[in-house]
This record gives sequence, structure tokens and C-alpha cells, in this order.
Amino acid sequence: MSANKRIPLILDGDPGHDDAIAWVLAQASGAFDIRAVTTVGGNSTLEKTSYNARRVCTLIGLDAPVAAGRPCPLVTDLEIAPNIHGESGLDGPELPEPTMELSSLSAVELMAKVLRESDQPVTIVSTGPLSNTAALLAAHPELKSKIERISLMGGGIAYGNWTPAAEFNILVDPEAAKCVFSSGIPLIMSGLDVTEKALVLPWDFERIRALGNPVSSIVAQWLEFFYTFHRSIGYEGAPMHDPCAVAVLLHPELFTIKDMYVEIETCGEYCKGTTVADTLGLSGKKPNVSCVMDVDREAFADYLVESIKFYGEAER
Ligand code: RIB
Ligand code: CA
Repeated sequence: MSANKRIPLILDGDPGHDDAIAWVLAQASGAFDIRAVTTVGGNSTLEKTSYNARRVCTLIGLDAPVAAGRPCPLVTDLEIAPNIHGESGLDGPELPEPTMELSSLSAVELMAKVLRESDQPVTIVSTGPLSNTAALLAAHPELKSKIERISLMGGGIAYGNWTPAAEFNILVDPEAAKCVFSSGIPLIMSGLDVTEKALVLPWDFERIRALGNPVSSIVAQWLEFFYTFHRSIGYEGAPMHDPCAVAVLLHPELFTIKDMYVEIETCGEYCKGTTVADTLGLSGKKPNVSCVMDVDREAFADYLVESIKFYGEAER
């Protein structure tokens, strides 16, 4: 895709195995002009997610400034997920040392700079807690119109994965999520309703490993590591939470999407962090979110394998 047709994009996340695979897909697509990478505390501490982000960008040849964002949620303390992503936040295969330093700008400053300088609105793919985007909207309300849309991994209409009611990204910073979900910015929400159906199975890992390029072997190992935890709680494959937030932008035909009004619960002893979706239209409020509800799993897995072939062609 010619440079001027590529979609200006900011990647914001907490790598994290599935964040890393989402970024692998974004870079491979050639559809995006990735203008910035911003990190947030979530799967691990900000220090670790920022180091991981630079290593992933080095691995995939992503040449964009990387800026560290909020170390903790807007209001509460940070909760991390070492049981899923390991002590480093991206345990498993050895990765290259970063070839770039962190930007001297904060994530909010870098996001604002990208938006200000862009001659067209910018898409944000957010695959961690929404702390950075909420902080951006609070600090620079004048730039909201420069955000084309936010494709986020977060939430779950039917259930949660960190509490019975709440999904991790939303629960870690529900106040930030409330800010983003009430912003009026077009939102595409890949919640657990779809991401737990976007399963990559062990034989898909082998298809990826068989591609035999430097990135495919790393992705296969990331998948195996990520699957280790999920297999222990009964999953038949690795749920590709964050990759859905990229894939739905590139191949919406693989997904089932329903526009709904979604509110974020920020209080409550049992339901804090819940994405409360008006599935029956009872609220009388206009939909504010395009909720991704289902995926053609096989086609999604085939897309993942096909995408990673890019890194063999890039080698030539
Ligand atoms: O609940 C899944 C989400 O939490 C994913 O973004 C994963 O990387 C973790 O951040
Ligand atoms: Ca993530």
C-alpha cells in the first residue's frame, strides 16, 4: 500500500505476549503508518512493558518513537498479571536488545505530538488499560477530533476474566475506561466475547513455526508460553485477545460486530470494571461502541499464519 494511503496509527499497550503478536500483525500488514508506540502498566510494570515494547519493535523492525506512559491507573494502584505473562511480562524466547531508547516525551506528549502534526485523523489501537488515552483526552481535549477511532481490546459483555464480571484491561483502570467510553470517539471493542473465540490451536503454532523466519519462531514460542497458562484452566488454544483489535481493522469480514450502548461500572464490590452493554436497547441511549461479538476462527488463524510470512519476505 502506498505510503500516503496507509492508515496513521498509534499502538498503545502493555506487552504482554498478545500485545506483541498484535504489533507483529500491524507491522506485517503494510496498511498502517505506525507513528508512535506507547506503553502502560498492566500485564507488568511500566518499566518492563516499556523494555518489552522496545524489544518487540526491534524484532519486527518497527521504526517509530516509543514512549512510556502511565505507570499506574488514574485512581487506583496497578495490578499486574505475572501468572500469565511471566516475571518479565514477556517470558519465553530470547529477544533482541532494543536498538532504540525510550522517547524523552511521555506517552501523552508523544500521542499529542502525533495528533497535532498529522494532516489526517489518527487511529489508536489500545491493547492494555486505557490510562494513556484517558490522560491524553484530559490533557488535550482540543485534540479529540484528531482521533479517527480507537480499536481496543477490553471488556466482555457476557463475562469477565479477572473477576467474574470484569476483564483485566478495563478492571485495571475503570475510570480511564469510563472516560474513553463516554468520549464520543468511534470505538471498536474487541472484548472477551470475541477474543476467547479467536483461539490459536497448537497445530497452528506448528504452522507458524514451519514458516522458518526469525519472527515466526518467536511468535510460535510466545504462543506456546501464553497457552501454558490457558491450557491449565481448560482452554483448547491460546486466546488472541489483543490481535483481534488489529485484525478487525484489516479484515472486518472475519468478525461479527454489533453497535451497542456500553457503560463502564466504576464502583461496586463485585462488578467494578464491568462493561455493561445495553444488548436489548433498554436504555434508550444511542450506541457508543461497535462491539465485536464473534469471529471465523479458522479464517482468523489462517490470517495470522499468512501475516507472519511477511517477515520471511522482509529478510530477502
Ligand atoms: O484480558 C486480556 C487483556 O489483558 C490483554 O490485553 C492482555 O494482554 C492483558 O493486557
Ligand atoms: Ca494487553
